[in-house]
Amino acid sequence: MVQPAEPTISKLAARARRVIPGGVNSAQRQVPGLEDLVITATHGATFTDDRGRTFTDYHAAFGPPLLGHNDPDVDRAVAEAGARLDNMGVGVSPIEIELAEKLVQHVPSIERVLLTMTGSEATFHAVRLARAVTGRRYLIKFQGCYHGWHDAVAMNVISSADHVGQKDLLSAGIVPEVADATLVLPFNDAAAVQRALEEHAGDVAAIILEPIPHNIGAVLPAPGFLERLRDLATQHATVLIFDEVITGFRHGLGGYQQAAGVTPDLTTLGKAMANGWPISALGGKAELMDQFNTTPGRPAFFAGTFNGHPAMAAAALATINKLETEPVHEHVFRLGERIRSGLREVLPEFGLPTVVSGFGSVFVTYFVDGPVQRYDDLVANDADLFTGYRRAQMADGIFELPLNLKRSHVSYAHTDADVDRLLEATRRALRRVLRDRKDHQA
Ligand SMILES: Cc1ncc(COP(=O)(O)O)c(C=O)c1O
Repeated sequence: MVQPAEPTISKLAARARRVIPGGVNSAQRQVPGLEDLVITATHGATFTDDRGRTFTDYHAAFGPPLLGHNDPDVDRAVAEAGARLDNMGVGVSPIEIELAEKLVQHVPSIERVLLTMTGSEATFHAVRLARAVTGRRYLIKFQGCYHGWHDAVAMNVISSADHVGQKDLLSAGIVPEVADATLVLPFNDAAAVQRALEEHAGDVAAIILEPIPHNIGAVLPAPGFLERLRDLATQHATVLIFDEVITGFRHGLGGYQQAAGVTPDLTTLGKAMANGWPISALGGKAELMDQFNTTPGRPAFFAGTFNGHPAMAAAALATINKLETEPVHEHVFRLGERIRSGLREVLPEFGLPTVVSGFGSVFVTYFVDGPVQRYDDLVANDADLFTGYRRAQMADGIFELPLNLKRSHVSYAHTDADVDRLLEATRRALRRVLRDRKDHQA
């Protein structure tokens, strides 16, 4: 009898496209040139695709696996907690309590904390809480910052040059009144924030920002900018929200707010919090957080079937435990610094305008003249070169996401030898792409 042919693994991407719109489960995974990428395994600093190619991974799923993929201690904690305790949907579990205590202990702004699954849920609830507490309408966000997919914030991240300075919605279907209630300002421009607060006096509920806008690589806050925002928010009784979904845990157990010495009113956490398992958090001042209706009779609604899932909370606790007891930050900061300084040595060879930026374990190379202080400074980035050299690096088994302005990350599982290979592959990839460009122009 003739056996039906086994569907070959290379048909997986085609199968995906038949049943999953676009073939991927997040628009950010739709990367030109990588439409057929099917990932079959992750391990430490690497991932493997369905063609058997293994890459050293600097994309790191946009940042969660700070310890490396499939950290055995974290994964064991998930399995053990999951086998003992499923999601109950009533009451609270000891694991959730322990995790909340850890977050209160470590993050300066957090006196009380609630758990969500995703970062978008955390920022959604932060904005809703600010509006519920202040009774005000407006939200200030900054061009280049991303805070998730919900209507109040889904705008003005990587805008084309002609959309900077205008409302640039990420999606159709956003009610205009909701979009109008968000004011978009340039990062590092405290005077613009002051003007907006004065123009809408008594009606700005919150200022939300990534303290380092990592959704456009790594634009560092200018000295005094975060402090000035803190002062302005206090002066205008506006809620200051640090969205530390990327920076939290990755830049330190206390988030970037601890390094910066500026304490917001509310903080959102996610991504690296559980090394890749889906859990996020919203925490902050008790007087604000206690206005959620998890305390009966309070005005801000908060609910979620999977909130505080014990197995996910266990992943976060195991991650935090490792960050507390092992030199994780020391390692990733050292490698991050080696990469940034190595790139600064390699890049001048090419005689191009370049700016190497980053913080701690995060790095990015922009092809622009510096300095880079706000999104406008990145509009001129050579996106073809930025994405082109990253695609070329794949031939050397290196993966940095080939999407314009996206940052790269190192984890505890990366080694010094990985850094050497990355720098060499960057040099080779740039040579190849620039040579091809020259041939093409000739
Ligand atoms: C700073 C920041 N905030 C919020 C979010 C939304 O988180 P999630 O994708 O988990 O909904 C992201 C996601 O990339 C982010 O980078």
